[in-house]
Amino acid sequence: MPGSHPITTLPLSDWHEPFDAGNSWQRELEEGRVLYCPDLSFRLEGTEERFFAAQWSDPKRKSIYIRHGNPELLGSTATGDDRDHLYAMLARFEQHSTALIERLCPSYQGKMRPAGTSFRPRAIGSDTRALSWRKDDRRLHVDAFPSNPTLGMRILRVFANVGDVARSWRVGEPFEDMARHFMSQIPKPSPIMAQLQFRLGITKRVRSDYDHFMLHLHDLAKADMQYQRDCQQIAFDFPPGCVWICFSDQVMHAAMAGQYMLEQTIHVPPQALAYPNETPLAILERLTARPLVEHAAG
Ligand SMILES: [Fe+2]
Repeated sequence: MPGSHPITTLPLSDWHEPFDAGNSWQRELEEGRVLYCPDLSFRLEGTEERFFAAQWSDPKRKSIYIRHGNPELLGSTATGDDRDHLYAMLARFEQHSTALIERLCPSYQGKMRPAGTSFRPRAIGSDTRALSWRKDDRRLHVDAFPSNPTLGMRILRVFANVGDVARSWRVGEPFEDMARHFMSQIPKPSPIMAQLQFRLGITKRVRSDYDHFMLHLHDLAKADMQYQRDCQQIAFDFPPGCVWICFSDQVMHAAMAGQYMLEQTIHVPPQALAYPNETPLAILERLTARPLVEHAAG
């Protein structure tokens, strides 16, 4: 999609309404576009709006979250009924998000795995602690996490603006253009180092060459202020009460401002994708002309 606007608007107003079967939304999502649903909102129930207050957050965490299938509520100081209500709000968002994605992308059914659901009650930029450039999500980046190699498992995210504040994003150039820009600066992966980091508990599994490239792309883009300023990009404000969806390991994104957002992470194994030639893994394997994952995620 060189040069084209990276956001597709979907005319959905209900999490469960039937889709127009002829749509190309799954293809656009897998090609690295952001699907934006201005008329779809996640409705709060009862007194859930009371959770829009700093008192429920653990001051050391940037979000309140749950992990699929785990009854714990993390990052929150809530107890008793408040804890249960907060947990239920997050679990309801997980259900809505997974139902939507299963209908949007039928080939993911039975294969995708819901991971974390989080609520971000804090305003972006309100954390006064010194933030390293590597953790600064106001810089354009693709998601890649040092301790958690994906081995090609995709990171799909559903976002909902639940407060009365817009969320301001920048969306950058297509993944392949960004990868070509930085590729020559990435050092060769070291299998010995990958093994060592796993044995020392630094990574949850042995980092694949793919994860090595993804981490370096994340870091190189964030560290390069000239790139941040000059690369092809658009600014977009997601208004209050909307939903948007993207593969955050593929879409160059930066969150500049906002507050009160719900976020669902869904892991999608590469075999479930309908357009596997468009993935960061496929693109990086084409650019390096070799396989980058020994034991594929599944
Ligand atoms: Fe991100």
